[in-house]
Amino acid sequence: MFTNTENKLIWTNGKFQKWNDSNVHILSHTLHYGTGVFEGVRAYKTKSGPAIFRLEDHTERLFNAASKIGIRIPYTKSELNEAQLETLKINKLSEGYLRPIVYLGNEGLGLRAKHLSVNVAIAAWEWPSYMDPNAKMNGISVVKSSHRQYDNPLHSGNKIIGTYFSNTMALHEALDKGADEAIMMDKNGFISEGSGENIFLIKNDIIFTPTTKHCLNGITRQSVIQLARNSNYDVEEKNLGYEDLRNADEAFFTGTAVEITPITKIDDHKIKNGKRGKVTKKLQEKFNKIICGDDKTYEDWLSLVK
Ligand SMILES: Cc1ncc(COP(=O)(O)O)c(C=O)c1O
Repeated sequence: MFTNTENKLIWTNGKFQKWNDSNVHILSHTLHYGTGVFEGVRAYKTKSGPAIFRLEDHTERLFNAASKIGIRIPYTKSELNEAQLETLKINKLSEGYLRPIVYLGNEGLGLRAKHLSVNVAIAAWEWPSYMDPNAKMNGISVVKSSHRQYDNPLHSGNKIIGTYFSNTMALHEALDKGADEAIMMDKNGFISEGSGENIFLIKNDIIFTPTTKHCLNGITRQSVIQLARNSNYDVEEKNLGYEDLRNADEAFFTGTAVEITPITKIDDHKIKNGKRGKVTKKLQEKFNKIICGDDKTYEDWLSLVK
């Protein structure tokens, strides 16, 4: 549930609106058919002020997803980058989560959406932890989902609103079974990802992650691959089966919301000793230094609020 948002402002089509006044019309096309795209972005406290992590990459992905479903965003990438920095600033957030969303208007209904207005909004709020606050230390449990990820290749790898229906169903199914997250498989029965996270596993000090054929090429995923390789780990992208995860030495999720969160249990089976592993811990430590600006090698991943 949201807290401390009543005084926050949401950027909507170039203007700031009060949080509670930021509504869409009941006949907005996106509400009916899921025809829109979105991003999930995080900002962190650094010694030089708040900074957005990999802002340009998130905006690039937003534009790619929109073009994949034929939506032309009526702003430039740099205008939306600026708008995100402004949204943080006006809301006096030193860190937080940002949600840019592109949605279609209510000028008409029916499946034809070619002539509808394209709207953009950006909300930002404090969201310290997506899971239990101790999840990053103690790990979480997952279950194999009955929901398949990206049966339609058009959807693969894009944050398209309508496609998140099956992710929500997968997460609810997992929560109903008493787990924290779902592991979605792809149409060939290989591991795809969590409902909102990419997955990594470690066996004999080698780090494995599924290819991006049937999962989102997460920005945290890309960051972790790069920092792990720079730290001399072997990282292999390949098809992974359910048994690979059960027999892993360690496993973790990555994502803007969860950052790096260990997975310590799958169905009724502990992963190794059921505790966060040493490679996971090392990667978390490196990632934490990067996001607060303490690792100069990666400082171009941070866009400072001026
Ligand atoms: C389905 C899915 N997979 C993976 C991720 C992780 O991506 P990122 O690291 O870019 O947040 C997300 C979150 O955006 C997601 O929704």
